[in-house]
Amino acid sequence: MENIITSDGYRFLKNAWYVAALSEEIVGEELFARTILSESVLFYRTLEGKPVAMSNRCPHRFAPLNIGKREGDTVTCHYHGLTFDAQGECTNNPHGNGKIPQACKLNTYAVEERDGFIWIWMGEQDKADPSKIMDCSCLTRNPDSAVAHTYMHNKCNYELVTDNIMDLSHIDHLHGPLINTNGKLSPLLPKVSEAGDNITVRWDWLADPAMLLFAQNLARPEDTANQFFEVVWHAPSNMQLTVGAVQDAEDYHQDGLVLYDFHIMTPESATTTHYFFASTRNYMMDDAAYNKAKMDGMIEAFTLEDKPVIEAQQREMGGIDLLGLNPVLLSSDAGGIRVRRKLRSMIEAESA
Ligand code: FES
Ligand SMILES: [Fe+2]
Repeated sequence: MENIITSDGYRFLKNAWYVAALSEEIVGEELFARTILSESVLFYRTLEGKPVAMSNRCPHRFAPLNIGKREGDTVTCHYHGLTFDAQGECTNNPHGNGKIPQACKLNTYAVEERDGFIWIWMGEQDKADPSKIMDCSCLTRNPDSAVAHTYMHNKCNYELVTDNIMDLSHIDHLHGPLINTNGKLSPLLPKVSEAGDNITVRWDWLADPAMLLFAQNLARPEDTANQFFEVVWHAPSNMQLTVGAVQDAEDYHQDGLVLYDFHIMTPESATTTHYFFASTRNYMMDDAAYNKAKMDGMIEAFTLEDKPVIEAQQREMGGIDLLGLNPVLLSSDAGGIRVRRKLRSMIEAESA
């Protein structure tokens, strides 16, 4: 079975690192709640600044704890006053003789803060290995004026957004002038390769001229440029997209303009997705105004161009079983289909 249709029976890959939030979303002593893999999770920073994550559902009558009261590193439920510490243990029961029932505790989750993201491991906690987190360290190495992060929300299954990134031929057709590739990608057969658990898809082409986003910063904006897109997928839905343009040289990274982007999807539910995006680059690294304008342009493309069509696609499909609907496959689907199959086999293996 390729997919499970109902929300109740829908299976996510549990033993994996997901981005839960941007670092900047969990601030000070605030309580922050977000639903991840259909589970309501409470986040906050301890007084030392370390992020923690636990069930947001009070075990008494299931009131959400994020509307409770924070005191020191503890949270007290707004409804009948049970108090929990940062390890999820109940530390105070104001009722009766104050005895704490054995089941009165919260599931806690491993979290790691890196490169502007808070990662969470929702599966078996003894398997959480931070060395398996996707390397986004270029976001930390580069100056703030060359780095930006954002959060978006899409009303669709997360795999539809993965498909969107794994098949960049849509840029020929869907996107406006800033990043349009003018029909150059669709005729190409993307190169797909697999190494370990990663799947890579790559397009190389002669742009005439380069994408507008790059052309304005190349020596000869109207002239041809070599360009590439490379997407490396890490299970379950974390992708690094590298985009380059170069004129009169071979080495993109040394002589050309390169964007290092991260497209990271975290399922909120079977049909809604948290979409984290971060970007850095190898040019105009000190230009904070350019950094903002570029990020604004990209967010506009994702929210005004990609999001409406993917959400409409989800509504049209009704359920979430894409392959079960026998879609027509095109040459550009090679990477996306490989990813879907690999993820499905990982989920099957986990629940076997
Ligand atoms: S619901 Fe939290 S203490 Fe009753
Ligand atoms: Fe797009």
